Amino acid sequence: MNAWLAEHYDLLRGLHILAVIAWMAGLLYLPRLFAYHARAGRGSDLDVTFQTMEFKLLKIIMNPAMIAAWLFGGLLIWVDGAVLRGWDFLAQPWMIAKLLGVVVLTGWHHYLMVERKRIAAGASRRGEKFWRMANELPFLAAIIMVIAVTTEFGQS
Ligand code: HEM
Repeated sequence: MNAWLAEHYDLLRGLHILAVIAWMAGLLYLPRLFAYHARAGRGSDLDVTFQTMEFKLLKIIMNPAMIAAWLFGGLLIWVDGAVLRGWDFLAQPWMIAKLLGVVVLTGWHHYLMVERKRIAAGASRRGEKFWRMANELPFLAAIIMVIAVTTEFGQS
């Protein structure tokens, strides 16, 4: 099994990156929908349309993409640790930065899920300005994570 996974490491990398692209697209787009949604009158046609768009984006794209990014990322960790590098790489600064970024993005994803429900119930305390500013957060985390894996900074 380990040998088979190691043989397909490059394929796993590709699938990991594809899942990450879809996940990031959703993480960047959903707060933008929330920002426009904040302007729509409660109970209006627009309100109902945004609720449907937000629900579908989360269920059809973002949740499966997050799970796939974790699954393929988890397999990469496994192959790296068990076959290619040994487990020490998990304690390297670049990998710690990468994993912290993953925690931030996963936490942010769950916060967006909670807010989607609040917005649908008319109970959100966040407005258009907050969602416009919050939009930058996932991209900042992505910059750190991508540079961490490409440069492997702090590697000893
Ligand atoms: C969801 C949990 C994630 C886990 C467990 C994970 C884990 C990993 C691991 C172990 C590698 C291989 C590192 C190596 O040995 O070179 C990797 C590669 C990579 N990851 Fe992730 N990752 C996750 C999410 C993400 C996210 C959110 C991004 C981008 C924002 C990302 C971007 C990348 C990139 C660009 C690579 C380099 C692929 C290559 O080797 O060329 N990952 N990831």
